[in-house]
Amino acid sequence: MSTSAPPPSQPPQKLIFAPAGQSTTPQATQYHKNTLSLSQLSPSPYTQFHTWFTSAQTSSVPQPETVCLSTASLPSGAISSRYVYLKELSPSGFIVYSNWATSRKARDVASNPQAALAFWWAEQERQVRVEGVCERLTREESQVYFGVRARGSKIGAWASEQSKVLREEEGGREVLERRVREQEERWEGKTDEEIECPDFWGGLRIRPQMVEFWQGRDSRLHDRFRYRLVEGEGEEDGGEGKWVIERLSP
Ligand SMILES: Cc1cc2nc3c(=O)[nH]c(=O)nc-3n(C[C@H](O)[C@H](O)[C@H](O)COP(=O)(O)O)c2cc1C
Repeated sequence: MSTSAPPPSQPPQKLIFAPAGQSTTPQATQYHKNTLSLSQLSPSPYTQFHTWFTSAQTSSVPQPETVCLSTASLPSGAISSRYVYLKELSPSGFIVYSNWATSRKARDVASNPQAALAFWWAEQERQVRVEGVCERLTREESQVYFGVRARGSKIGAWASEQSKVLREEEGGREVLERRVREQEERWEGKTDEEIECPDFWGGLRIRPQMVEFWQGRDSRLHDRFRYRLVEGEGEEDGGEGKWVIERLSP
């Protein structure tokens, strides 16, 4: 009696495999636009970031202020990431603005003040990573940036319970638009300047303990430099602290 072998099982279909942009070869994009050496770096990661950011702005990087913000809830440890805009850089940290009542990031930072940022400037083949501890700006500090926002964005901040479910059976987007109309009525007759910053909305400062500057190189042999804050040193008189710079393997 002959038994026939079962048909070979099909490999699971891959929807994406080794994508290589416009290239017909599956090899990853090569980076060759620039190099980075210790002698080019500022002793301060703030100054170095400012130099790279300004260069990204003048090199037609679209929206170089776009940054991936990662936060993590405790005790679960579940991490969440999303893009936000970097709105300020000062010697005390990197500042982003958001809703701190209903969003996922609000829940995360309420349980865990650690946060991380990652910028990717493709036109320059550069990445910057930031890790540190975050804190809310005061209402007065937040009001300064809120004050320069467009009227519609101010109304939107009041109206949107960021990341809350908008139930279809209750009207879906119509619920949001009704809330917007309510806020427009509330602030009717007030000038743009008179619209107050909501208590639940404002800035989050990420005080960096680590900043990494990454310059893409050929064959994945990238240049990477990490600034590490040496706790407790150089912070007298409001100084930004003492930074150690190390080259990392790619
Ligand atoms: C390019 C870009 C920039 C964004 N900038 C912000 C921002 O500055 N602040 C903000 O709260 N959400 C911003 N968002 C929306 C967030 O990605 C996200 O949807 C929202 O903050 C809710 O996230 P959460 O519930 O995980 O906290 C931006 C989205 C994109 C794609």
